[in-house]
Amino acid sequence: MENEAIRQLAEQIKTSSRVVALTGAGISQESGVPTFRGKDGLWQNFRAEELATPDAFNRDPVLVWQWYDWRRGLIKPLKPNSGHHALVNLEKRVQYFTLVTQNVDGLHRAAGSENPIEMHGTLWRVRCLECKKIFENRDVPIKILPKCEACGGLLRPHVVWFGESLDEKILHTIYTHLQRAQVMLIVGTSGAVQPAASFGIVAKRAGAFVAELNRSNTPQSPLFDLSIQGKAGELLPQLVEHVGR
Ligand code: APR
Repeated sequence: MENEAIRQLAEQIKTSSRVVALTGAGISQESGVPTFRGKDGLWQNFRAEELATPDAFNRDPVLVWQWYDWRRGLIKPLKPNSGHHALVNLEKRVQYFTLVTQNVDGLHRAAGSENPIEMHGTLWRVRCLECKKIFENRDVPIKILPKCEACGGLLRPHVVWFGESLDEKILHTIYTHLQRAQVMLIVGTSGAVQPAASFGIVAKRAGAFVAELNRSNTPQSPLFDLSIQGKAGELLPQLVEHVGR
């Protein structure tokens, strides 16, 4: 069954020039990156409100930086998996391919994706609260509390926290691609967090063929043209194989 659905999706991609892929934590799960809401997910073991909000950081920046330092240390040695690499290969077979990721682990870039739209930011950049400068920073461990080399201000992770809005320019770019997409892949996301959770229906309303690839069904599965169950690291290489040269 899954093979038939993969074949059907590949046919859609072969006859399209504009494909958008949206990824979530599920695509990095096979690399060893904890998801957020799975049984071993981060939000089962930590309270997001205490760690991933501006109030949490204002209240206790040391605690928040200790948690991000732990995540950076955990993720730094991890490698992209066959799912990340398959999307790099798919990018080469599609005329206009846009990758939007909710992930902050940097694994799409590490796999060689040209220009992933990291809509929730990345663990590997920090931002100065004073002068707003953004820096690459891969120090593990990171000095707590890290200070801006330009102005001495306090640095924060350059990620989008709960309660914060996304960069308007990034959102505009994403919606432009969604409106033009002929095919959209939604890979490894629970569809629990907006605005990413609406991207699939936005693309569908604009006429795209939308396929969800996920280990399990999600509440959004019935909304899409295809909902293919399986591991991203297995389904995506199969898809690329069927898309062919
Ligand atoms: N292959 C495919 N899908 C998988 C795999 C896998 N190997 N492993 C897990 N999944 C699926 C799960 O079934 C689930 O639907 O990936 C999804 C992970 O869901 P979440 O943990 O909620 O992660 P995500 O959807 O990316 O969360 C969105 O929430 O906490 C915020 O900012 C954070 O970007 C994150 C956002």
